[in-house]
Amino acid sequence: MKIKKAVIPAAGLGTRVLPASKAMPKEMLPIVDKPAIQYIVEEAVKSGIEDILIITSRGKTTVEDHFDRSPELEARLLASNKTEQYEEIVKISNMANIQYVRQKETKGLGHAVLCAKSFVGDEPFAVLYGDDVIIGDNPVCKQLCDAYEKFGKGVVGIKEVPEELVMKYCSLDTKPISDNMYAVSDMIEKPKKEQIISNFAILGRCVLPASIFEILEHTKPGAGGELQLTDAMRELAVKEGMIGVDFDGTRYDMGNKLGILQAIVEVGLKHPEVADGFREYLKKISAQL
Ligand code: UTP
Repeated sequence: MKIKKAVIPAAGLGTRVLPASKAMPKEMLPIVDKPAIQYIVEEAVKSGIEDILIITSRGKTTVEDHFDRSPELEARLLASNKTEQYEEIVKISNMANIQYVRQKETKGLGHAVLCAKSFVGDEPFAVLYGDDVIIGDNPVCKQLCDAYEKFGKGVVGIKEVPEELVMKYCSLDTKPISDNMYAVSDMIEKPKKEQIISNFAILGRCVLPASIFEILEHTKPGAGGELQLTDAMRELAVKEGMIGVDFDGTRYDMGNKLGILQAIVEVGLKHPEVADGFREYLKKISAQL
């Protein structure tokens, strides 16, 4: 079954990137000249997604404004013959059919996904975490959708990460199937050192069957008192098995200060407008490090 719907949870408080995220959503933090969430919407569109639901919350209206038309700005750009910029600005608002729903209380990623229940209906759908930008030639969401279509099971995007990160994310029980594909039979959110099953963790993307909503509805709050998506996916993995795709692509965690800096440096070094000057600048300052 072709995956046509995607959910982007972007309602979190972003406490790890305060004070930047006090009045501005962390999902709107720019990587050079584009907000993080635009990279994510572009990835979904390139993956064949037609309908997107962004989960927002209080203080996140700039996300909606970003994907809306901007008549005053457009008129000004046209009047000053800045046609290229005009087209780029209009393109953002025509990228996909985007809808919004508010998560009224930030009760966790699982709770945010549950807010998408009526949007999703009974189709499988992709989830792209609003603060995880993944850059690569082959969009990661597409890699996961292809795996769902092939195996007919829930799919998670996975990578091996160092132990200290496994303890912050989650740990998966995996068995290799082929190349970069694994059977996932169990997982644990934020494991203690002795609970670690493997260094494979879920990073920012999954494709889920609609049956996840029923599971989320009876899942109890877990780590941090929040309704954890991983706890619901664990039930799915134990019951039906899931597929892990060790994806191609570089992931930047925009919910963490170092991740933001890494994204800006790496994207800046490839940016057609600033790459040359930025490379020279980096060479100069790195000589003093
Ligand atoms: P995170 O756990 O990274 O976001 O969730 P957070 O809660 O904002 O982080 P900190 O710890 O306070 O810094 C991953 C994604 O899920 C969304 C976030 O916006 C982020 O894009 N999320 C998280 C929600 O939509 N609702 C929630 O209740 C929690």
